[in-house]
Amino acid sequence: MAHEELLARTDFFGDAPAALIRDLAASGSELPLIRGDVLFREGDVAESLYLVISGRVAIAIANPIDHRETVVALMDAGDLFGEMSLLDDGPRSALARALEPSTVFAIPFDPVVRAFRSDPALLWGVTRLLATRLRVMDEALADSVFLDVTGRTAKRLLELSDGHDEFQLPITQEELAGMVGASRERVNKAIASFIRLGWIDQHDRRYVLLKRDALELRAR
Ligand code: CMP
Repeated sequence: MAHEELLARTDFFGDAPAALIRDLAASGSELPLIRGDVLFREGDVAESLYLVISGRVAIAIANPIDHRETVVALMDAGDLFGEMSLLDDGPRSALARALEPSTVFAIPFDPVVRAFRSDPALLWGVTRLLATRLRVMDEALADSVFLDVTGRTAKRLLELSDGHDEFQLPITQEELAGMVGASRERVNKAIASFIRLGWIDQHDRRYVLLKRDALELRAR
């Protein structure tokens, strides 16, 4: 899909007129990434926001003491990120790392800020994106309080399956543990229990959901 079309489909630029989308698409540039490439780290000075063209990028926060990471979001094709520093003039709130060969489209902040200043009604799109992020985080926070590790693991696997009964986990076990918010050992134990119960089959990163209903019940 063309950059303009992908941009127009984002919440962030959902209210932008076609001429602005064209200008923004012309001001940006594609950046190819290989697995493991870090686009930016938490605390970095920011100058661009990014749109995922293909592949997958993890947004993560690292513990400064032992460098463990918690993955707070996964960005797929069509997702936009790196907008928070534009909005509050602060440093990057998290790091962004490619989980697989990916292409992102970098758009410099300047033309975006100019467009928002000249037509503040465009900020409705921004508020939509932020409200969606907040809803997701509210749910994650509630899960961390109300669900145990096994329930959170079931929920994450269901989310990562994206509705498919057979899928390839896009992240490592370590990253999955970071998303669940538990140690790798405890997440592995939860997965082993699902296999024992006959709810899933798993070989390396390939998963087969044999009893989606049971997993869904466990994730409540
Ligand atoms: P920015 O702070 O510029 O750089 C890190 C980016 O990660 C941030 O903008 C957002 O785009 C994204 N990000 C940070 N926290 C979250 C979150 N909880 N959910 C989704 N995206 C996030």
